[in-house]
Amino acid sequence: MSPSPFSAIGACVFDAYGTLFDFNAATERCRDALGDKAAPLSATWRAKQLEYTWLRSLMGRHADFWRVTGDALDVSLAVHGIGDAALRDRLLDCYRSLDAYPDAKDTLARLRAAGLATAILSNGSPAMLDSAVDSAGLGDVLDAVLSVEEVGIFKPHPSVYQLAVDRLGIPAERICFMSSNGWDARGAAAFGFRVVWVNRFGQPPDRLPDEPHAVVDTLDALPGLLDL
Ligand code: LAC
Repeated sequence: MSPSPFSAIGACVFDAYGTLFDFNAATERCRDALGDKAAPLSATWRAKQLEYTWLRSLMGRHADFWRVTGDALDVSLAVHGIGDAALRDRLLDCYRSLDAYPDAKDTLARLRAAGLATAILSNGSPAMLDSAVDSAGLGDVLDAVLSVEEVGIFKPHPSVYQLAVDRLGIPAERICFMSSNGWDARGAAAFGFRVVWVNRFGQPPDRLPDEPHAVVDTLDALPGLLDL
């Protein structure tokens, strides 16, 4: 029997938005104003946010994720015919303090109790990530919060994943990386991490190279996968 890809893990590194933090929480909190547009606006906002990260990286025109998130919100509000400046500010404000998914804190605590290092590796700017970690109360179960701002390009550029290796001092094959974003999971596997795709949204696998090493529905399955 071949050894488990997760047999020598020293650190667990997590994507932030969609994996630990629920990005739909911003529009849900403004449902009083958005009504039935809450879910479609959130979907467009997320899609545009990611699209702009990839395009800016290809164009060599980096701006931080807070700027990209605001730009993506502006185009999404236009797409859905919403022209309310106060609502725009309220939505962005909610994005600073998104809810953590219910499985996030317990999983991080269990991993740390088992002696593994825990970290976030995210497109988020340092200020956004600090604010999200604080408001979700995750500060005491994380060893490091790493932002792409240190390398000035977005995922899935390999230099982003290299940041975790450099900052944690652990080789790629001993880092277990979790993302709910199928494309981020593939990028991390291409880099050389041991990857768990957290398929929270029941999506079909992306047609991209480098399959993740495991697929789970929620983070609750992670301690078992790592044999803790
Ligand atoms: C992040 C985005 C990709 O947190 O969800 O990096």
